[in-house]
Order: sequence, then structure tokens, then C-alpha cells
Amino acid sequence: MSTPLPRPAGDAADLATVTPLDDGPLQVEGAFRVVDPDGTTHDLGDRPSAYLCRCGASARKPFCDGSHLRVGFRTAAEPGQ
Ligand code: FES
Repeated sequence: MSTPLPRPAGDAADLATVTPLDDGPLQVEGAFRVVDPDGTTHDLGDRPSAYLCRCGASARKPFCDGSHLRVGFRTAAEPGQ
């Protein structure tokens, strides 16, 4: 059994929402920022959401560029697996 993670501080309305899309990227909505390991912050402009690659095939990492469709990325288990 896994240990629950601590809840972040702040009101629920202040928290970003991360939604794993079926066979696709992570959709992130709300106030957030994306920072590379070297500390570089990506400029998201006024966009209220972003799509983060989780298939590994994007040429625009960490963002999704639609390559998950080309590589046939699947997140749901196929029947019988
Ligand atoms: S999830 Fe879309 S390119 Fe990787």
C-alpha cells in the first residue's frame, strides 16, 4: 500500500490541475510554471493550460507536439494484458 502524499498548502482553487489524457500528454491547467533541470523557465505566455509530453517522442520536450499519435503511444491496458 502506498503512503499518501502530503497535501500542498493553499486553497484548492489555487492549485494547478494535472489531467493525464488517454493515450496522450499531461494537461496542466491553473497557475503553474515549467522549469528545466538547469533552472530555465519556459515562457507560457498567457496560456491557461499546457500539454506535457509523457510518451518521450516529442521534439519540443517537455511539451507535447502531437508525436504520441505517430508513435502509437498507449496508456490504457489492452484487454487481456
Ligand atoms: S505525449 Fe504528445 S508528443 Fe509525447
